[in-house]
Amino acid sequence: MPEIAPATPLRIAAMVSGRGRGSNLGALIAACESGEVAGSFAVVIATRSDSPALERAKAAGIPTAVVSPRKYETDEAGYALALLRILNRHKVGLLCLAGYMRRLPPGVVAAYPNRIMNIHPALLPLFGGQGMYGEKVHEAVIESGMKVSGCTVHFVDEEYDSGPIIVQIATTVEDTDTPSSLAARVLTAEHRAYVEAVSLFASGSLSIEGRRVRHTSGS
Ligand code: GRF
Repeated sequence: MPEIAPATPLRIAAMVSGRGRGSNLGALIAACESGEVAGSFAVVIATRSDSPALERAKAAGIPTAVVSPRKYETDEAGYALALLRILNRHKVGLLCLAGYMRRLPPGVVAAYPNRIMNIHPALLPLFGGQGMYGEKVHEAVIESGMKVSGCTVHFVDEEYDSGPIIVQIATTVEDTDTPSSLAARVLTAEHRAYVEAVSLFASGSLSIEGRRVRHTSGS
């Protein structure tokens, strides 16, 4: 089965959209600093210069970059090139989308096969896809009557929320839940799930066959 061999030492990048608070980014930075993840952050890329996630990165001494997709509204290839230039310059071996709400341009996805992860606040393949983000996800889960929700870390392909699943953690949905109380419970699970997925990747403990990602013993 094809193993996913990480570049060593693993240099990680994260991308965040808009004014994202960056709590998943914070969990990943802390896990790198504590040694739980065998890698370090090379760069954090935001779509806006006033993103709180950038402040988090700067406070941790991590280089930052801003690429506004609005500047490239009619030039997807140009947007891809701008991102690839930054990823190459920082010798990135793993890109983590952490509150990045757009579809990545195909040029970037193709350049990093099985090297881009995303986190989604539901148990994919349920409650994902274009337009399913933030509280909309949790509203839909509550309306559906499901008794469990959770989060999913997956590899990124060219569609929204559709690549092979790496880690999922389930949470309960309580009768009294509102979208924001469910979001808070799921977010706690997200931080654990993202750290686990990146840690497995960094230690060479992932292999992939078709859509199935296996957790192997690693290095
Ligand atoms: C998370 O809920 C994640 O699942 C989604 O965007 C949100 C980002 O939250 N993709 P944070 O900025 O990491 O706190």
